[in-house]
Amino acid sequence: MPSILILNGPNLNLLGGREPGIYGAVPMDEIRALCLKRAEVLGVKVEFQQSNHEGYLIDAIQDARSRHDGVILNAAALTHTSVALMDAVLAIDIPVVEVHLSNIHKREDFRAKSFISKAAAGVIFGFGANGYLLAMDGLVSILRSSAGGRR
Ligand code: DQA
Repeated sequence: MPSILILNGPNLNLLGGREPGIYGAVPMDEIRALCLKRAEVLGVKVEFQQSNHEGYLIDAIQDARSRHDGVILNAAALTHTSVALMDAVLAIDIPVVEVHLSNIHKREDFRAKSFISKAAAGVIFGFGANGYLLAMDGLVSILRSSAGGRR
């Protein structure tokens, strides 16, 4: 059964109460529960993690190489700043789908730049919590395509 890591960056642990007008009212735990339910329907395994620390996220991406078939990454603010996270995504040979709750192109100019997009197989943004489920559908279709997941 294919295995997917869903990895979340800084401040996403505060979802639900954090700027709900932008990020919605769904807490991280609920997003996790929705993803686990979708995983059952899709026939995949999901591991869900969040960290406020860049180095932890880099380690998790590196480890995903041997433990998972693909990654869904919401790098949060690090999306716009972290060459190191981009390099980690480029360094692994499994597909990474970038996700954002908000429409990052509709906000401050600095959010329109994503280092992760330069390395991602695909990007989903602006659909709130539902974006995670769309990202799962997209990633699973990549994993099941004739090209397979490995780059
Ligand atoms: C975010 C968008 C980022 O710009 C922001 O820093 C976040 C969340 C999103 O999911 O919309 O923390 O990644």
